[in-house]
Amino acid sequence: MRYSSHITFNSIAQYRRFKPLVDAYPAKISCGLRVNPEYSTVEVELYNPAAPGSRLGEVDANFIEGIEKGFLEGLEGIHFHTLCESSSFDLEKTLEAFEKRFGRFIPSLKWVNMGGGHLMTRKGYDTKHLVELLLAFRSRYPQVEVILEPGSAIAWDTGILLATVLDIHESRGVKTAILDISFTAHMPDTLEMPYRPRIRGATDPQEGKPGYRIGGVSCLSGDYMYEYSFEQELRVGDRLIFEDMIHYTMVKTTLFNGVRHPDICILHVDNSLELVRRFGYEDYKNKLS
Ligand SMILES: Cc1ncc(COP(=O)(O)O)c(C=O)c1O
Repeated sequence: MRYSSHITFNSIAQYRRFKPLVDAYPAKISCGLRVNPEYSTVEVELYNPAAPGSRLGEVDANFIEGIEKGFLEGLEGIHFHTLCESSSFDLEKTLEAFEKRFGRFIPSLKWVNMGGGHLMTRKGYDTKHLVELLLAFRSRYPQVEVILEPGSAIAWDTGILLATVLDIHESRGVKTAILDISFTAHMPDTLEMPYRPRIRGATDPQEGKPGYRIGGVSCLSGDYMYEYSFEQELRVGDRLIFEDMIHYTMVKTTLFNGVRHPDICILHVDNSLELVRRFGYEDYKNKLS
């Protein structure tokens, strides 16, 4: 509460439990509830907060019951978050579903938080359309403040993970370039989502070009990406550049099994490299004991 102007609760039960604490706090904090519009353009379940049975937010039936029973006294805001790396057109469809279910409650509220997942810094994102959508929303509900909480958009495509080839391993015709980084430890989304990272200068398999699986350095058998093609044969000591590795990739890294964690550096415009953080065995040891 010391740091919050607004607090969004994930369930009516949590709202009822903690609202008295917020009310008793000396500073004014505006309370809201997360709702589930049960619509999302995100198809992968891991990234879909509106998937059936989702634990994220209240569905409209619960919300209506909460209102009827007087459980939502003092509610000032409503929050939904069902986008992920999405366009303004995805937001448009989501808003339609959200307003269909919750629109009649909006006039009694002070704010609507449309969550994150608005990838407004991606090339081609139609910011003009986003602004039009938000202005139209405001004109339908003039008393309501609109909040957006984009996360990854702030750091989209802003940093790389630099890896070195340690070995070329061959098994019955499958060549794997083993790197000094790990997919499970340093790019877990590549296995969880899964998504295929971009490697500078490499493509999906192409006839006639040298192809390699890309192997992580951990003990996990599945710690690899299927084949990429390169312009030239890879050699021990070659550097590979993984693109767009700053936002969730960097925050989700682990020290799994003591695999060495990459340094965090800033490459300045004058090409000087500033070391921000180097991780060592002590970090791994201190995390566990
Ligand atoms: C409630 C909520 N708001 C905002 C965000 C930020 O989303 P993004 O980084 O996709 O913009 C997240 C991410 O999971 C979230 O769960």
